[in-house]
Amino acid sequence: MQLRTLWLTGLSGSGKTTLALALSQRLTQLGQFHFVLDGDIVRTGLCRDLGFSEADRHENIRRVAEVARLMNLAGLTTVCALISPRHADRELARGIIGADRFIEVHISTALEVCERRDPKGLYRRARAGELAGFTGISAPYDAPAHPALRLDTNLTTAADAVKALEQLLGL
Ligand code: ADX
Repeated sequence: MQLRTLWLTGLSGSGKTTLALALSQRLTQLGQFHFVLDGDIVRTGLCRDLGFSEADRHENIRRVAEVARLMNLAGLTTVCALISPRHADRELARGIIGADRFIEVHISTALEVCERRDPKGLYRRARAGELAGFTGISAPYDAPAHPALRLDTNLTTAADAVKALEQLLGL
């Protein structure tokens, strides 16, 4: 089986991390070596020097893509969960990882739903003007035009979403 990188892109609060972790549990059950690279986690270490300017997000995505490439080479399926808001940065990731390995998945949960969930209170702070350049509010999000899959976590159960991701991985 060709080792892949599933690249989950979507707004903050869209369900990327939840889905990545649910898929990880399933991959463990199946005995599939894998690793989850999550934006919130890499930003506490590997990318702790980066903020949310366009340039810093570009560098965040580049580093994560390089790590994903190495993990694929080491024999692990990789699941990346990053907002990765710009089309050009996701194309950079595709180029680094390799078009044959990179699978783009759009977690397409609507902004209104993400904002209602607001698990970290960041949308509220962004609306109050306390957080500049917040994706979806005061910074852009380019929805992928042709993702391999679109999943709206407001309309799909986690179990069905995990099944769909498994299928993408050819499991
Ligand atoms: S990315 O744009 O560089 O791909 P990444 O996925 O690593 O973003 O990090 C996003 C997380 O950082 C969000 O889930 C949120 O918790 C937090 N965050 C803090 N400030 C911002 C901001 N201005 N825009 C988006 N997310 C932010």
